[in-house]
Amino acid sequence: MTILAIETSCDETGAAVVRDGKILSNTVSSQTKLHAEYGGVVPELAAREHLRNLIPVAKSALREAGISMEQLDAVAATLGPGLPNALLVGFKAAQAVAFALNKPFVGINHHEAHLYSPWIGEFEKLQPNISLIVSGGHTILVLVESELKHRVLGSTIDDAAGECFDKTGKMMGLNYPAGPEIDRLAEQGNPVAFDFPRPLLNDPGDDFSFSGLKTSVRYFLRDNPALLDDAQKIRDLCASVQAAIVEVLVKKTIRAAKRNGVRCVTASGGVTCNRALRHELARACVREGFALRLAEKSLCTDNAAMIGILAERKLLANVPLASLDEEIKPGLVLA
Ligand code: KG4
Ligand code: ZN
Repeated sequence: MTILAIETSCDETGAAVVRDGKILSNTVSSQTKLHAEYGGVVPELAAREHLRNLIPVAKSALREAGISMEQLDAVAATLGPGLPNALLVGFKAAQAVAFALNKPFVGINHHEAHLYSPWIGEFEKLQPNISLIVSGGHTILVLVESELKHRVLGSTIDDAAGECFDKTGKMMGLNYPAGPEIDRLAEQGNPVAFDFPRPLLNDPGDDFSFSGLKTSVRYFLRDNPALLDDAQKIRDLCASVQAAIVEVLVKKTIRAAKRNGVRCVTASGGVTCNRALRHELARACVREGFALRLAEKSLCTDNAAMIGILAERKLLANVPLASLDEEIKPGLVLA
């Protein structure tokens, strides 16, 4: 089965061609430079940029895969969640292609695509697992019982982990998105230099909260403004903030895995690119005897390949198809 997939939920214009579980191409045009000037994603600009980029990106994905439109068996796009105007561009374009080719159209939940991204290429190995989805907009802990059968255990009650990286980084004067920059600077910083709170770490539930940590960094910088004049202190600050976020994510994920009796832990979403998170999850899983599957770095940040792969799995599982006049669902949640 050959599928063209499109992803435009936020600030990456993505198109991919997948065939029989393999990614033939995965093209992403990132808008982060455009939004950096404003310190965050500007929805109207994102939608206009998707309009400009979508056709070239889709053409390039088809060209790289060596696939013509006539060879497609289905078309998929992100249904939600995401920025309404951004989602609309990719979703309606994909529906139009499916209509013109008279092929099935599949609308995909963006989080569900992240959730199954660690299994791309090896779905036959899927086993019950606890999955951490950590991105700029969401932090979700999910129990996956089997393929396409999952239940959300907890999520953030305020800011997402990625948002905490981005916003505390902004306070330090780093460009948007600050997550990758904090990761880089933290490499040469001392993670115990400054002590920041670990919100909800000892709460027995599976929810997360990161706004208190963000506020505590704000007050810390208000009381210690000179710190930002010292490059090493900034590295220490990055390492300390990162350590607080990572500790909460890792400990709560491992605790959920133990409680639910699974033998495997997975992680996906943009923040899963973070080296400290990857390292600490790996260490904890070795210590506690869990298998660990992390989404490949190129599949952690938003991309259309994960949308296409999940669409294929749904088609193979005969999940009922949506009609061609289905509408986007910007507020879609993972159940
Ligand atoms: O999954 P994603 O591309 O988009 C959303 O669905 O939100 O995630 C983007 C988020 C941003 O907050 C970005 O700062 C964060 O992922 N991120 C990182 C790293 N790479 C991306 N955070 C920490 N360390 C990284 N290396
Ligand atoms: Zn995402």
